Amino acid sequence: MHDMCPEDVRGEGRAYEWTYFDGTSRRLLVTDEETRFPTGELIVSRTDVSGVITMCNDALVHLSGYSREELVGTSHAILRHPDMPRSVFADLWSTVGQGTRWTGYMKNLRRDGGYYWVYATVIPKVVDGVVVGHTSVRREPSRAKVEELSAVYATMRDEEGRG
Ligand SMILES: Cc1cc2nc3c(=O)[nH]c(=O)nc-3n(C[C@H](O)[C@H](O)[C@H](O)COP(=O)(O)O)c2cc1C
Repeated sequence: MHDMCPEDVRGEGRAYEWTYFDGTSRRLLVTDEETRFPTGELIVSRTDVSGVITMCNDALVHLSGYSREELVGTSHAILRHPDMPRSVFADLWSTVGQGTRWTGYMKNLRRDGGYYWVYATVIPKVVDGVVVGHTSVRREPSRAKVEELSAVYATMRDEEGRG
């Protein structure tokens, strides 16, 4: 994944040198601009077993700000926001790894440094007892839950230690 560029970011972004689970890193530029989830739409993407995007709908392209070409073939972690606790993703991966669907709230990072919240359901595809890929469907999140989880996730991040 490429570093985020100041030309693509709306306003002054806070810079983070972010290291992903696989050991690769990338410079993030993060602003406080929220884009609201479009009412009535669904965001859908599919990944291979390791979380590399294999398909996505137009709603993900619009909300994330990335082109389809930038998303397909790239890890879903391209949308990872530094405010998200690591333990949320650990829970996601351990749940889908057992062949069970996971639901939860995610704050995602846009290409322009802003963010959007989603309520996500991640469904593993199991063939002959083996997980071979995943589908994620996101709906508009409840505002009350977004407010509540912004505070909960901030506490969890502090306890985990930043970075
Ligand atoms: C189907 C599917 C959809 C995912 N959607 C997102 C997403 O929208 N945002 C996100 O940050 N991570 C998403 N993830 C989790 C990422 O793959 C990744 O684990 C996460 O961003 C944390 O990055 P890291 O594991 O490299 O630390 C998704 C995973 C799967 C399997």
